[in-house]
Amino acid sequence: MDMVLLERNIGVYLMTRGRRKIAVIGAGNVGATCAFVLAQMKLADIVMLDIFEGFAKGKALDMSQNSNVLNYDGTITGTSKYSDISGSDVVVVTSGFPRKPGMTREDLISKNAEIVTQVGEGIREHAPESTIIMVTNPLDLMTYHMQKVTGFPTNRVIGQAGVLDSARMAHFIALELDCAEEDVSPMVLGGHGDTMVPLPRYTTVGGIPITQLMSEERIREISERTAGGGGEIVKLLERGSAFYAPGSAAAIMAEAVINDRRRVIPASCHLTGQYGLDDVYIGVPTIIGANGVEKIFELDLTESELESLQGSANFYKSQLSELLGY
Ligand code: NAI
Ligand code: 2OP
Repeated sequence: MDMVLLERNIGVYLMTRGRRKIAVIGAGNVGATCAFVLAQMKLADIVMLDIFEGFAKGKALDMSQNSNVLNYDGTITGTSKYSDISGSDVVVVTSGFPRKPGMTREDLISKNAEIVTQVGEGIREHAPESTIIMVTNPLDLMTYHMQKVTGFPTNRVIGQAGVLDSARMAHFIALELDCAEEDVSPMVLGGHGDTMVPLPRYTTVGGIPITQLMSEERIREISERTAGGGGEIVKLLERGSAFYAPGSAAAIMAEAVINDRRRVIPASCHLTGQYGLDDVYIGVPTIIGANGVEKIFELDLTESELESLQGSANFYKSQLSELLGY
């Protein structure tokens, strides 16, 4: 189908459905990148909310002035008022402090938990039917906390980590094999931190497991680089953490929900017995669609893979009780 026809069809589709709305909380590096990617997808009106009103409004105006250049539909507005997010179908939460060199994601817990409480109360009051995509770190803990603050069904509170961590692994594999990135299908589960669990057995290139394409040694090195992928960028930037890939990853998840794409992607979800884990948010393979988490897949894992996943989840479970009082 040619592009003009495709765009017209999307327009007609939007008109028949009424305009959709996505709120992005936090207009910082990740939030603004996410909003920018979403705008180019022509999915919905976008509202960026930040505690600093002028910051959100300024970025929204800058992006809006780009509309003529990049030809995106819908409005992009900035605000600090929660009433402006009312009617949002999806809310992406990026508000919070990023890591500085030497900090782990867990160092951010208490500061970001306060922010998530405030934001969650705003979402609960003004966008009670929305699906929440969490980005704020430490991701798996903040996603759990957000679900408790809002009281939303657990399928409507999802954490973004697996899309990013898997994309990082895919990049390193494509570099190693000198092949197209799009042919790499990676699988990274577990928490978004040092305990994440890259799964080489389930990572394929053009359908071929990487265990048949690379030495064990190189796979181990790539898995380690993936787990340290965020830290590598924090060290280089010296003032904040990654945002292009994280913002895009969150946008992809928002799109999966708002367009009911039923994408098969790893995401941080609330587990109720899967993988022998209960009442914890951790990265697992899912189908993401209109209802948020539509399905959680339980992979057949080896003893050591399962041990790694359970170890990662139990680490966060202990932090939930020790540091957040759950
Ligand atoms: P940033 O500092 O550029 O932006 C954060 C924004 O949140 C700021 O504009 C700030 O004013 C705003 N904010 C702070 N408190 C707020 C409140 N109570 N209400 C509304 N807005 C508030 O930080 P960046 O780089 O955008 O990172 C945001 C968060 O995302 C961090 O916690 C970071 O660690 C996390 N992150 C998570 C990733 C993931 O894969 N899950 C990847 C990258 C970052
Ligand atoms: C990242 O993985 C710091 O969570 C952030 O880039």
